[in-house]
Amino acid sequence: MSHHSSLFDSYSIRRVRPPKNKIGTSAKHDSAISHVMGTATYVDDIAKPQGTLHLAVGKSSHAHARVLSMDLSAVRDADGVVDVLSFKDLPAQTDIGAVFDGEPLMVDDITEYVGQTLFVVVASSHRAAKKAATKAVVEYEPLPAVLSIDKALEQELFVRPSHFMKRGDAATALDNSPIRIEGHIHMRGQEHFYLEGQVSYVVPCDDGGLEVYTSSQHPSEVQQLVAEVTDLPFHAVNTVVRRMGGGFGGKETQAAAWACLCGIIAKRHNVPVSMRLDRQDDMVVTGKRHEFANRYEVGLDESGRILGVDMQLAGLCGYAPDLSDAIVDRAMFHCDNAYYYPAAHVAGHRCKTHTVSNTAYRGFGGPQGLMTAEYMMDHIAYTLGQDPLQVRLANLYQDGQSTHYGQTIEHFDLATIMTKLADDCDYDNRRQQILEANQKAAAEGSDKRLGLALTPVKFGISFTVQTLNQAGALVHIYTDGSIHLNHGGTEMGQGLYIKIAQIVANEFDVDLDTVKVSATRTDKVPNTSPTAASSGTDINGKAAQNACLSIKARILEFAAEHFDVAQEDIRFEKNHVYIGDKETLTFAEMIQLSYQNRISLSSTGYYKTPKIFYDRSKAWGRPFFYFALGAACAEVEIDTLTGEYKVLRCDVLHDAGQSINPAIDIGQIEGGFVQGMGWLTAEELIWNDKGKLASDSPANYKIPTAHDLPKQWNVKLYDRKNEEQTIYNSKAVGEPPFMLAASVWCALNNAVASLSDYKKNPELTMPATPEAVLKAVMRMQGTSWDLTTETDTDTIDSLVKGAEENSDLYNEKAMPQDVRHAKDIDPKEVEGKQTDDQPNAIEHPNVAGARGPAHSE
Ligand code: MTE
Ligand code: MOS
Repeated sequence: MSHHSSLFDSYSIRRVRPPKNKIGTSAKHDSAISHVMGTATYVDDIAKPQGTLHLAVGKSSHAHARVLSMDLSAVRDADGVVDVLSFKDLPAQTDIGAVFDGEPLMVDDITEYVGQTLFVVVASSHRAAKKAATKAVVEYEPLPAVLSIDKALEQELFVRPSHFMKRGDAATALDNSPIRIEGHIHMRGQEHFYLEGQVSYVVPCDDGGLEVYTSSQHPSEVQQLVAEVTDLPFHAVNTVVRRMGGGFGGKETQAAAWACLCGIIAKRHNVPVSMRLDRQDDMVVTGKRHEFANRYEVGLDESGRILGVDMQLAGLCGYAPDLSDAIVDRAMFHCDNAYYYPAAHVAGHRCKTHTVSNTAYRGFGGPQGLMTAEYMMDHIAYTLGQDPLQVRLANLYQDGQSTHYGQTIEHFDLATIMTKLADDCDYDNRRQQILEANQKAAAEGSDKRLGLALTPVKFGISFTVQTLNQAGALVHIYTDGSIHLNHGGTEMGQGLYIKIAQIVANEFDVDLDTVKVSATRTDKVPNTSPTAASSGTDINGKAAQNACLSIKARILEFAAEHFDVAQEDIRFEKNHVYIGDKETLTFAEMIQLSYQNRISLSSTGYYKTPKIFYDRSKAWGRPFFYFALGAACAEVEIDTLTGEYKVLRCDVLHDAGQSINPAIDIGQIEGGFVQGMGWLTAEELIWNDKGKLASDSPANYKIPTAHDLPKQWNVKLYDRKNEEQTIYNSKAVGEPPFMLAASVWCALNNAVASLSDYKKNPELTMPATPEAVLKAVMRMQGTSWDLTTETDTDTIDSLVKGAEENSDLYNEKAMPQDVRHAKDIDPKEVEGKQTDDQPNAIEHPNVAGARGPAHSE
């Protein structure tokens, strides 16, 4: 796999040098070259035969309405159209809810979000299908639409029952606390913005089965859902995923619908069928990160140490459950981030709204829980006039304590990581300099202020549903000594394939280019879990290792007998097999010899994560095998006149355990960090008051660019073995670094706080866009942000008019919003369990065995 093949080295060199690209070396991504050359094949790049049909969906234009009639005659008559299907044409199962019912493939009677599929057009080209889809005449009877968390809480409209976690008596702890603080934090959603949109291509097989090419993080679920909607046994459907152009959670469940539609039509017409969503469609019809509105009340002693916490987390789930049960759970698991809450009461609500169903997104609710803790830490610090870092350190967990859901804190290096980072980046001195610089700026009337923040991350690794913590792999060794590898994980750019190839190469101590990984296929490794929860390498790596171990055991047993040496004296080393001191064979020679002596050179491998258990009815247990840790320190400069800012410097120290591939891990840290920065500083999802997404293209939704990166950026690995027995004692790295970006938001908050001499908590919202920073500055300066009363609405109207679909931009959410605190809203607390109309889904999820109750993460 290395670009310069190891076979170019002369034999005498190969014989003595260590294998190339071993574990712990920065082997480049297996597709690095083809990514750059543009030769890596994505689903839409597959050459399709003539006669391939293309699909487009007709979308609902109402958030909540009864569909009275659909006149599709003009659609049928349009150029290139071959067929049009609506709900009644679905041949078998119609609901594709991953865990719980509630996600019809097409609208039957009532539409529940703008963009929901009403019908499907089948045409000779992508363009023809899309054009035809616009020609439908649909009559609606509008129904009242619930579009916000507040409204859903008010009406107690939930997609799943509320859930509670309790430790001790939080109410009494709060009552007895000398200091009590309450707050409210609102976080927007986030568009996945994978470069490759949702796409599927399905080819009918001569035996009546289907071959499904899709961009999905969960091939097994796609296999099962396609089978169910086409009424085929699972074995008749094979899903193939070579790579995705990014998934970020957005292709965990929400890749399935398009594959299902292709499957149904491929079967109906017996021709290959292709479907892809253009960017604007993708942004409108697929779910995003959950918006959350969280409140907290915290009791403290005089020094700022937490005595008790009462939190209420409310996620905006959209119209259907999807993965929201698990996502809100994960928010609840992470609402402590890294801090000890001696007494805690945490409520988690799953608000139902008439918007697209929100879904997994890097961190899976964790970031929304974690930010609540970080916001609260800032709030405490600025209320008490303390340094936020001191408040954070004072409340940090210590070994032996346990979380509010009962998991014991062990091997907790976070204090070390934070102090090491603080030392390395000279936190104390820089803080002092910044304090002075800000004082000087104030004295001189300058508009610039500096801000600094150092924040930690603790992120639980494992799917919180035990079933999903299993994986399989398949390893073949061919007679020339080359190795072929498959496993259940999918590649979305994160470098999973190369890491697992490194593991296999390491097991036999051969060069990395001896090993080839091919597409993830359900006919090679069955019943796989989604590649999610950052667990890809952890579980598939162990499974691959186990496959290697069984082949190795067979070879050892044979060689010991054949050469009459003890097994312990046989070593796989440096591309060779050393038979005691008797003989040395190349790896390929040993394989040849084994083959000639009828030793099986192919094996499956299987792994299940040990130690984890969790009783959801008691909200108590050890849901995570271990925690990934990290810390980041960010420095920013804001302009108090305009709200504009720069991230001047950022230092990161992240714990990836004993890294399998440091370059890949650092890439994940950098990528996650920037994506987190986007969420917290730039990306603003805006819906209009009719529930239509206004920020529906790159033109009106801003993701971070290269220009937004910290000007000075140091990313280091905290190179220490994971104490748990993970694959080579490494740690999962995919999601945790996303939350390191909290440091940037907190640094902006710190710069604003300087205006009150750090004695008042700024009312800075998320994302901290320049507009939000300016608002917070003005509030802090006592110039209240009263643009709402003074806004020249005529100007806005005239600006907005003329623009297409003009009503979209002028809406409540686009207007300046107040930061609302706990007292401002009073959602009813729903005590205990609500009636659950699908109680069996927990034990018996929809898709046979693939998904657990709260499914993921
Ligand atoms: N990195 C890239 N380049 N592209 C992605 O889509 N997804 C993230 C993370 N890193 C993603 C990524 C998410 S949401 C997860 S859960 C993990 O990768 C999944 O892969 P892993 O389990 O192999 O880390
Ligand atoms: Mo990642 S959100 O678990 O796909």
